Amino acid sequence: MDERIVSSEEHEEDMGVELSLRPTTLSQYIGQHKAKENLAIFIEAAKMRGEALDHVLLYGPPGLGKTTLAAIIANEMDVNFRSTSGPAIERAGDLAAILSSLEPGDVLFIDEVHRLPRVVEEVLYPAMEDFFLDIVIGSGPSARSVKIDLPPFTLVGATTRAGLLSAPLRDRFGVLSRLEFYNPEELCDIIERTALIFNTSITNEAANEISRRARGTPRIANRLLKRVRDIAQVRGEVKISLGTTMEALDMLQVDDVGLDHIDHKLMIEIMNNFKGGPVGLDTIAATIGEESQTIEDVYEPYLLQIGFLQRTSRGRVATAKAYEHFGLAMDKS
Ligand SMILES: Nc1ncnc2c1ncn2[C@@H]1O[C@H](COP(=O)(O)OP(=O)(O)O)[C@@H](O)[C@H]1O
Ligand SMILES: [Mg+2]
Repeated sequence: MDERIVSSEEHEEDMGVELSLRPTTLSQYIGQHKAKENLAIFIEAAKMRGEALDHVLLYGPPGLGKTTLAAIIANEMDVNFRSTSGPAIERAGDLAAILSSLEPGDVLFIDEVHRLPRVVEEVLYPAMEDFFLDIVIGSGPSARSVKIDLPPFTLVGATTRAGLLSAPLRDRFGVLSRLEFYNPEELCDIIERTALIFNTSITNEAANEISRRARGTPRIANRLLKRVRDIAQVRGEVKISLGTTMEALDMLQVDDVGLDHIDHKLMIEIMNNFKGGPVGLDTIAATIGEESQTIEDVYEPYLLQIGFLQRTSRGRVATAKAYEHFGLAMDKS
């Protein structure tokens, strides 16, 4: 699959750059007021009690700042940040090794926590609840179960949808925070902050234009800025202008609400071949050659957010707003 400039998933080109762009404190973290306010209180209370912070589950579409927030939590708690992911922990022993190496109060971040293998999840339950490991050593008749005490720690889990988590795992998180899409003003602040770090100057109108087309997602905003900056640089522009920005974004085939050719294909397919729906997710996936899961986690949330798509019990439906955007006539029958 080719990489879309407006995909909210991490690209190879983002690595390294993203690290340098990550805010490190809650006060530098733009937007997400509800999540921030909540976390600030829990963090302060845990620090006052001298205890580890309760386990935190962060959920929301890719690129909204889950990994960033996890690292901020560790920083604000003044503890070590250990990072891994669900699919990377294959065996119960892998998790046991990580957990027993933690220091009191440490944050263990597990990205894509919904992808933990079931056997690993089962080891995690007593570890989260009572800070001990219950593992079986050996096999057959010589197998025995041993209990190992763990230091109190904070598990920060991230997932694209809380519904993907098994109920027993979800229940063991004390703090659940859903990250929301950012509004254009917040994205504009993020773009201006990034420009500063890049040592680039950008006009307010240009930053606004990028923020409107960034699908409510900081990762995309930063990526678009990077591309626009390259083009401005080649042109010898000292301060990134609106004109260059518009041209660059058109060149990148990002339309005025942040949609690209795949979104167009998806929407036009629904409107033209399925009379606007309802059409099942799997059917859409098959017709445009994408995985259902990817559509549901990555592409669809923004189309729902801007009201181009609606989810019904019978499938996805294109809205009047979508017809208008694409200049198509709605089939009233
Ligand atoms: N609230 C925010 N303020 C500033 N930058 C942000 C914010 N949220 C995310 N970013 C930036 O967006 C990029 C993607 O964030 P990340 O935490 O990796 O998202 P996720 O883990 O949800 O996919 C990072 O480079 C980060 O610096
Ligand atoms: Mg992440």
